[in-house]
Amino acid sequence: MSILIKNGNIITATDNYVADIFIEGEVIVAIGKNLPHQADTIIDATGKLVMPGGIDPHVHLDMPFMGTYSSDNYETGTRAALFGGTTTVIDFILQKQGNSLQTALQEWKGRSDNNCVGDYSFHMAVTDYNENTQKEIQHFIEQEGITSFKTFMAYKGALMIDDRQMIGLMEEVKKHGGLINVHATNGDMIDYLIAKHKAAGKTAPLYHYLSQPEVTEAEASERFVEMAAYTQCPGYIVHLTCEGALNAVRNATQKNKKVFVETCIQYLILDASLYEQNFEGAKWVMSPPLREKKDQATLWAGINQGLVQVVATDHCPFMWQQKLLGKDDFSKIPNGHPAIENRMELLFSEGVNKGKITLNKFVEVSSTNAAKIFGMFPKKGTIAIGSDADIILLDANEKHTLSAKTHHMNVDYSGYEGWQVTGKIKTVLLRGKIAIDNNECKVDKGYGKFIKRNKVSQII
Ligand code: URP
Ligand code: ZN
Ligand code: ZN
Repeated sequence: MSILIKNGNIITATDNYVADIFIEGEVIVAIGKNLPHQADTIIDATGKLVMPGGIDPHVHLDMPFMGTYSSDNYETGTRAALFGGTTTVIDFILQKQGNSLQTALQEWKGRSDNNCVGDYSFHMAVTDYNENTQKEIQHFIEQEGITSFKTFMAYKGALMIDDRQMIGLMEEVKKHGGLINVHATNGDMIDYLIAKHKAAGKTAPLYHYLSQPEVTEAEASERFVEMAAYTQCPGYIVHLTCEGALNAVRNATQKNKKVFVETCIQYLILDASLYEQNFEGAKWVMSPPLREKKDQATLWAGINQGLVQVVATDHCPFMWQQKLLGKDDFSKIPNGHPAIENRMELLFSEGVNKGKITLNKFVEVSSTNAAKIFGMFPKKGTIAIGSDADIILLDANEKHTLSAKTHHMNVDYSGYEGWQVTGKIKTVLLRGKIAIDNNECKVDKGYGKFIKRNKVSQII
């Protein structure tokens, strides 16, 4: 099978030019003006932006969490991702305390194998670091292609590890060429504040927000940066939300210490005023919580300053019925919100179309940087000869409205109901196949491939 995409405005993290792309099988084999190649399918991309497929390195599909499972499984989640222009996701395996990493991998394979529509990979969340876990790290990096290890400095009593475990894990991961990603908030402080609010009879979603003030994130981020610098282990802070935490990273860079930073689309465009309503605010109960307008400004600036390299989603959807588990107690509301399908269009509409970021920056933070940081570049994350033909065609001017009535995520509300978006993903190619066209998915479950990732190289 061959495809010729003609006359598109090709945007990568560095370039912007009009040309044709010729695809044979799964990969791009030629790029140039007026290519003479014959193809089975020709796509006229005149007037469209042609960009690398999005990479969302932070999603939770079919994940056991807070007494329930996130409501998108590997099929519905990766299909919804494709509709929104994201061709590859990285999901999280959670080690169960007392069990091995390998046991967790087998459990996650049981749910994901042959079920994905789009491409996917895994981070391994280490929740119990001990001498047995230590022995498994090298195997995961060198044999399984799982090169990033997630740690939680919060969710005390469930997923949280202490600093002793963190340092030990960092040393081992560093030795074998991997990376640590971290949920950086102070779990003990949060645990105390939750208990304090509950004891005072404060049960509404607003108290989820008030139990995780900015200082809990700033403190943990600073601690993580220092531990990463001490061990020289590459580090990546997931879902960073606020000025205090970004300043901790900024200050460290002044001493030539570095960690990668991810924020999520919701922290750029939503704010904590959404918690000032009754239980409806549960739709946005996530950790860390939404912050203030001043934090949004800091994050957009951080993207342009190169301090924030990735915009992900932390997609972790729950049906309204599941959110109701916390009707009388905010600490029982399953944490997370749906965004896997909305990330690219929202970032384009709010970022590029409103002049906050350039087109090249859009590609960098929605695709290229994640591919580089997580060992998939240049197979993923760019438009180049030899790269996988993961390509989106976007109409920069088409307006549409986001709604649970029309989205493809398996969740019965939208965090962005009624949101007016300018810019629409029209066509999506995944490894040389047309996956989305005319609002229809053209590939089946099982087409999505597990992507084995390379060791981490500090190239950005
Ligand atoms: O609220 C969130 N973020 N839910 C998913 C788990 C996590 O902390 O990433
Ligand atoms: Zn988290
Ligand atoms: Zn998460």
